[in-house]
Amino acid sequence: MSSAEATTETGEPSRVQIGSHIASARGGIRRARIILVAAAMGWAAAPSLVDGAPAVGSEHARPARSPELLRQPPVLRNMSSHPGVVEVTLTAAPARLRLMPGGPLVSVYAYNGTIPGPTLDLREGDSVIIHFRNQLPEWTTVHWHGFHIPAYADGSPLYPIAPGTSHDYKFRLAPGSAGTYWYHPHPDRRTRYQVSMGLFGGIIVRAPSDPLTAKGVPEKLLILSDNRFDSTGAIAFSKPSSLEGGIDLENGREGNVLFVNGQVMPTIPIRRGELQRWRIVNASAARVFRLSLAGQHLVHVGNDGGLFEHAVEVPEVLMANSERVEVLVRGTGSPGDTTVLEDLPYDRYMPQTRPADWDRTRRVLSLRLTDDSVVDRLEIPSTLRPIPPLDTTHVAVRRTIVMSQGLIDGRQMDMHRVDIRSRLGTTEIWTIQNVVGMDHPFHLHGFHFQVLDRDGVPEPFRSWKDTGNVPKHSSIRIAVHFDDYPGKWMFHCHILDHEDDGMMGVLEVR
Ligand code: C2O
Ligand code: CU
Ligand code: CU
Repeated sequence: MSSAEATTETGEPSRVQIGSHIASARGGIRRARIILVAAAMGWAAAPSLVDGAPAVGSEHARPARSPELLRQPPVLRNMSSHPGVVEVTLTAAPARLRLMPGGPLVSVYAYNGTIPGPTLDLREGDSVIIHFRNQLPEWTTVHWHGFHIPAYADGSPLYPIAPGTSHDYKFRLAPGSAGTYWYHPHPDRRTRYQVSMGLFGGIIVRAPSDPLTAKGVPEKLLILSDNRFDSTGAIAFSKPSSLEGGIDLENGREGNVLFVNGQVMPTIPIRRGELQRWRIVNASAARVFRLSLAGQHLVHVGNDGGLFEHAVEVPEVLMANSERVEVLVRGTGSPGDTTVLEDLPYDRYMPQTRPADWDRTRRVLSLRLTDDSVVDRLEIPSTLRPIPPLDTTHVAVRRTIVMSQGLIDGRQMDMHRVDIRSRLGTTEIWTIQNVVGMDHPFHLHGFHFQVLDRDGVPEPFRSWKDTGNVPKHSSIRIAVHFDDYPGKWMFHCHILDHEDDGMMGVLEVR
């Protein structure tokens, strides 16, 4: 991989074309030039994007300190005493926090002063009021990723909140909406920056009856993120005009330090025989996590829109950024045994911008068996909840949506344009086609969908999704029903650099 020609060996458009597409309306022409130069230099051989912070998770840096137990983010306090009403206050503001263990205090953005932000713990049917204050020096929004709520409450870039002002988000959660979600800023072009500065938090929506809760299965929320730091310990961003900036724009910004709930390599204690439910959120800007627990299979019980019909045993789970999974983990072995939750290598990259260390396994957390006595073995319920198939006997429209590098259907986002018009009350089938050599996770606001097939291979089981990774040169087919909430909704690649750069469109439902 040493010349610009190499870029065409996989049938990709040349770097010049890709770069100038991305740069055409939003990014500035400089980037295209950088990318061209970089291609000529041969990126595959370029040094990795390590910025001086210890390579946590690599064999080079094993923290010597005693294991730190995984903490749960604080839960937002409900100020309402009315049943079925949740009223909370959320403030986004600059703060100084210690992000790296033993590192300095650094400048961040935080919700209510913590990273991740406090968890929003809700129930199906709740009326939710969030008094949001924007104390950032810039515009923002709060987007409730995955929620099926009115468009005006969605926190999309169409509803920006000025610095120094407040806004009340009000919505009601539909029956059947139980699941794991998350919230994050979504202002025009600044989402990547604000999320990387620390603005993200988890949401749990609980069902009136949950078969795992009923059995007493304890649960944990695991919010995965990554970040990178300069030699002073500050959060590092590449200059858009630099080589690194060009690579970030292509790959999406990845960090070499992995966090779980803001902690590096925390430990989760588990008793022998104990079953734990982990709700995992991938809140990173671009990183795909391929999670595997050495020595045991994971029991995959849910994803974006909550529990599956039946549990599935899997050796690993793949989570594109913004996706959620729920897994059950069992305490097996002898007291003191430690197993590591690993992030296995996953090649989502174009060959010419693939990081040199992409094939390294990274360590995420450890699971340690305690000395406590054995817990009675809980059986996993055979049915978790029904997932009725979306009725596709009357499909109003079938569409194909093409994702190329930085573009959807050949265009960049224009907030004043409507790209897709759909009728309220109808069902559509969309083929999301990725025509380039890197993965793009496709996300639709406001409506859950069911994946029908991937490259023509029927999805093995049904689930509710709001994000679906579309691997390089492949397509997925989804069914979506617009049952409620007319208005304008975003659909986009959830690699935040791509989204900010205009890899987004507007759906109008009416
Ligand atoms: Cu996670 Cu458009 O959002
Ligand atoms: Cu969203
Ligand atoms: Cu993308």
